[in-house]
This record gives sequence, C-alpha cells and structure tokens, in this order.
Amino acid sequence: MPFTIKNSHTGQSFPSDGAASILDAALSAGRAFPYSCRGGSCGTCKAKLISGEITSGPFGETALSAAEKSAGYILLCQAKAQSDLEIDARELASGPPIPIRTLPCRVVQITHLSHDVIELSLKLPQNQSLEYLAGQYIDILLRDGRRRSFSIANPPDPEAGISLHIRRVPDGRFTGHVFDGLRERDLLRFQGPFGTFFLHDELDRPAVLMAGGTGLAPINAMLQAAFQQNDERPFHLFWGVRSQQDLYQHSQLQAWSEKHHNLIYTPVLSEPQTELPWDGETGWVHEAVLRRFPDLSNVALYTSGPPPMIEAAKSIFFQHGLSDEHFFYDSFEFGADTLV
Ligand SMILES: Cc1cc2nc3c(=O)[nH]c(=O)nc-3n(C[C@H](O)[C@H](O)[C@H](O)COP(=O)(O)OP(=O)(O)OC[C@H]3O[C@@H](n4cnc5c(N)ncnc54)[C@H](O)[C@@H]3O)c2cc1C
Ligand code: FES
Repeated sequence: MPFTIKNSHTGQSFPSDGAASILDAALSAGRAFPYSCRGGSCGTCKAKLISGEITSGPFGETALSAAEKSAGYILLCQAKAQSDLEIDARELASGPPIPIRTLPCRVVQITHLSHDVIELSLKLPQNQSLEYLAGQYIDILLRDGRRRSFSIANPPDPEAGISLHIRRVPDGRFTGHVFDGLRERDLLRFQGPFGTFFLHDELDRPAVLMAGGTGLAPINAMLQAAFQQNDERPFHLFWGVRSQQDLYQHSQLQAWSEKHHNLIYTPVLSEPQTELPWDGETGWVHEAVLRRFPDLSNVALYTSGPPPMIEAAKSIFFQHGLSDEHFFYDSFEFGADTLV
C-alpha cells in the first residue's frame, strides 16, 4: 500500500511504496533533497522524523550519532516508510531532478596524472549523452553488482564524454583494477548522475572551494562550467594534498587563476617534501581556509574529498559563522558494501 510522506519544512508531500528508501521515493517524485553517498556514511541526507513508522536501515556512527538517533533523526537514504510519515527535511532551491540512467561506456584514454591518480576518459555509445550538473557523480557498476562512486571531473558537453580522477586505494578492488588491469577500449557500465554537490547560482556571494586530493574532480568540473558561463562571482580554491608530488593539476590551476581574475588558487601541503622547493601554505587545508577567511558568514562553502577533512570542516566552520544553508559537501566515503 503506498504511503504519503509530508515534509513539514516545505509543506509538500510525495508517495512511497515502502520498498524504496525515502530518498529514492523523493527523487522519483522530483523532490530535491540534499544527499551524497547514498550508503549511510556521510550524513548529508539527515532529517527529523516527526511522526510515523520507519525501518532505519544500516548506517555508520559518523553519519548519525546515537544521540541524534534518540533525538528522532533519520537518514533518508537508508530509512524506509512503514506508514504515512511527517518529516522535517531541508530541500534545495535548485538542482536535480535529472533522470538517472544506466549506460555502457568505453575507456578511451588512461592518463597517469601522478603516482596514485589516473584520469579515466570514458566515451558513451553513439547518439547517447549524459545530462548532469557539474559536480555530480556516477557509480561504476561492477560485475558482481557492487558499485563504486566517482565524481565527473569535466563539465557537461554532449561531444566530450566524461572523465574521472581516480585515486588508487591500497588493496582497493576497483581502483586496483584501474591501475593494474584496465585497458583502453575496455567496456564499463555506470549509473548516474547522482548527488547534490553543484554550484548554487541563486547564492550571490563568494564561493570558497575546498578540495582534498581527488576531491578536486567535482570542483574542476564546477570551475570549468563557471568559466564557460562567464560566472563573475569570486572563487577561492584551496587544494589540500600531502606533498608536492600529489599536486597533479597544479600548473593548470595556476594558469586558470592567471587567466580568470575572479579565481584565487591556494595549494596547501600537509607534509611538504623538504628536498623540493615550496614557499606556499602548509598544514591542514581547512586551517588554511580559516587563516584567509576567519569569518565565513558571507561565503558559500563547497568542499569535497576525504571523510576526515569533511568532518573537520563540519565541526569547525560553523563556529566561524558559516550557516548550514551555505555549506555543500561530497564526502568520498568507501563503497557501501564495505560498510561494517
Ligand atoms: C560521492 C562520492 C564521490 C567520489 N568521488 C571520487 C573521485 O572523484 N575520485 C576518487 O578517487 N574517489 C572518489 N570517491 C571514493 C571512491 O568511491 C572510493 O575510493 C572507491 O569506492 C574505492 O573502491 P575500491 O574498490 O578500490 O576499494 P574497496 O575494495 O572498496 O576498499 C579497499 C579497502 O580500502 C578502504 N577504502 C575504500 N575506499 C577508500 C577511500 N576513499 N579512502 C581510504 N580508504 C578507502 C576500504 O575500507 C577497504 O578496507 C568518491 C566517493 C563518493 C561517495
Ligand atoms: S548518509 Fe545518506 S546520503 Fe550519505
């Protein structure tokens, strides 16, 4: 029997069959709830259950603490309706719905960008193109039904296909295959686009972009889309990596900041190699952001990359004036099947 889910935040309702997660039901109904990992790890889809029965599904403590659970919070990507519900969930002013598709693609180029990052260029079948927003991600579908999430590193272009920045994870099943087994002309399958990490054009304020490692990928797409659209808002990109050898797109970013007067680029090394020259920022990337922006109350902050970096941002940036509705993130969590 279909249930009705009412969001008291907006006053709007949508149906759910109880078999799909509340998030999937909302997306099918064209509602734009914020979400990222869809695996119960990142906490982006947290919402308050006001009334009704649900099954909460599996999730990690970093996404939803025991205290939040007792206070009535749920994860929309994991919870399923078991009755009519009333929830209180933030909705986005703009963004998806864009249809989620499953498509084959061919590997056209494998480029080693650094010692542990590969750029994978994928071509879609003839006459097919993927509609997406710069910053969104796809899931590569593995043969056994598992999936691995990767942000699209280029802006939408029907002619161009899609490119991914893939960091090798030690003992990683899929990323290991990308480095050791995958060949040009191989076929892959993917599903997407997913996620609500994209530039919010309705926000007329400077954008602080904070990337960690391959967290640069979605921000790379956002910046290129902004340049194409002559977006004049000020951008300040902070890119945190471990050492000089990890700055896999340094000269490109330097060139962009010289060409585009509204882009400032600050690379930040957490462990600079002393034998190599470096007179830039050092330490944790979120600390470099705060040195430059001790007051975050007038900016929109977009961040993507390793979960510890996102957690640090969540715990500190709000103390520096950032408001919840101006904070957007994609936490590069592990594949859902590796959740314990
Ligand atoms: C929304 C989203 C977007 C993402 N975008 C990108 C991207 O653009 N580029 C990119 O390189 N990655 C990205 N990731 C992370 C990427 O999905 C994982 O690194 C990938 O799933 C690892 O797959 P695997 O099969 O190689 O590793 P698995 O075989 O799943 O894992 C092997 C071991 O490594 C651990 N592990 C897995 N992933 C990570 C990780 N990320 N960091 C540390 N340890 C890990 C596991 O716990 C396990 O012990 C994204 C993740 C999300 C959720
Ligand atoms: S925990 Fe639901 S989207 Fe990440």
